[in-house]
Amino acid sequence: MTPVCAKIGGRSDIMKNRSSEDAIKIIESIAKMKARIRKYKEKNLSIALVPTMGYLHKGHLSLIEKAKANTEVVVVSIFVNPTQFGENEDYGVYPRDLERDRKLSEEAGADYIFNPSVEEIYPRGYNTYVEVEKLTEKLCGKSRPGHFRGVTTIVNKLFNIIEPDRAYFGLKDAQQVLVIMKMVEDLNMNTEIIPCPIVREEDGLAMSSRNVYLSKKERSISLVLSKSLFEAKDKVNAGERNLAKIVARIKANIDNESEITIDYVKAVNMINLENATTLENKVLIALAVKIGKVRLIDNIILEGN
Ligand code: PAF
Repeated sequence: MTPVCAKIGGRSDIMKNRSSEDAIKIIESIAKMKARIRKYKEKNLSIALVPTMGYLHKGHLSLIEKAKANTEVVVVSIFVNPTQFGENEDYGVYPRDLERDRKLSEEAGADYIFNPSVEEIYPRGYNTYVEVEKLTEKLCGKSRPGHFRGVTTIVNKLFNIIEPDRAYFGLKDAQQVLVIMKMVEDLNMNTEIIPCPIVREEDGLAMSSRNVYLSKKERSISLVLSKSLFEAKDKVNAGERNLAKIVARIKANIDNESEITIDYVKAVNMINLENATTLENKVLIALAVKIGKVRLIDNIILEGN
């Protein structure tokens, strides 16, 4: 096999300490990926998938590390999935840097990067989509029609190709996690979904590949999102039970920043994403905004009685 590093050029410091056997391998073809997986399945080795669109940040790396701690073979998929972007969204400019992602994934302990082309995943005449109803009509689904259909389609395809025992997803996209769990349940799929906590920058901003789009000023304004969510949590810890009041306070904080447009701020239950009025079981306070042209989402989970 052509050594991976020869294929993409250059050797990082980490690579010096790893034999070419151990080095992370990049696979672009579905057939090759399936053949590799078959070998591991024959040996009864457990397989984890960390699905990503690349431009990895610490949130992704924490997923890879968790996967590595619990599974024998870790595959990170890197695929900017066109079917989950709307016409006026950022598909064309979504940040991409495979060499950077290769180094980071390898350091975090991944064994493979699955990096197919768009034509490999959606060849000419491609016509099949997977859709979860109801849950996808709420929150981000309202302002991004078709988005979750693209997500469930690609995740379904990745599960069919990689057959993971476990797949790791970050809870920043809490709705995405619930939608994927519903798909797995409804379609009797064999993969266990492992939701993992949001990883934040030191100042509180939730990690996202899209944060690189923020100007210095927007980056500083963006802190109102996490600050408002933390304030909400503090209020609940201090005894506040009125969710409408909490949501109104978050909206007011964000509205103070004229450069931010709110898509939604909502308190919803974590079963069907219906509006939550009382703090029972788990309540998700989720928000989506636009700062300039950049769409950001964030959330916190409140534990009820
Ligand atoms: O969360 C993401 O990065 C994407 O939605 C996913 C799950 C990799 C599917 O393209």
